[in-house]
Amino acid sequence: MQDLKTLEKIAAGHIGEKGGVIAILQEVQDALGYIPEEAVNWIADRLWIPRSAFFGVATFYAQFYFTPRGKNIITACCGTACHVKGSERLINGIARELNLAGGQDTTPDMEFTLEKVNCVGACSIAPVVIINKKVHGKAGADKIRKELKALRKTDKNAAAVEETDEE
Ligand code: FES
Repeated sequence: MQDLKTLEKIAAGHIGEKGGVIAILQEVQDALGYIPEEAVNWIADRLWIPRSAFFGVATFYAQFYFTPRGKNIITACCGTACHVKGSERLINGIARELNLAGGQDTTPDMEFTLEKVNCVGACSIAPVVIINKKVHGKAGADKIRKELKALRKTDKNAAAVEETDEE
């Protein structure tokens, strides 16, 4: 497994501990960006904790992710107020802009993940779209499209700089 060193370190911090399952999952996710099944299995076996204890907790809490997520996270609210204000059309537009085919939520280049959530508690500014933790209220399709384009540009520039650095 490629992240063995990271997992060793995480496991070492929890040897003999009781009830550290959530903390371990959080640390794995922070380190790897998501929680690979094989990583959970490895840590569970290493710490003599039943694998089921991890999966039970991880599926209960919405903040844990079992699949890799994009570098940029777009969270679109689908709650009632946002729905009434056109969130569905907005979300379809974002999916089109990102070339996400049916059912896909992350772009193949791992740059963007589009996730749909229920009410984020900002109904007065519906429809709400959160891009990398920045809340966009009364979100219009044009404004969101511009934000996404700007992110693509930033990411491309960053990649170009990385390539230059490696030379
Ligand atoms: S329904 Fe979208 S913020 Fe409440």
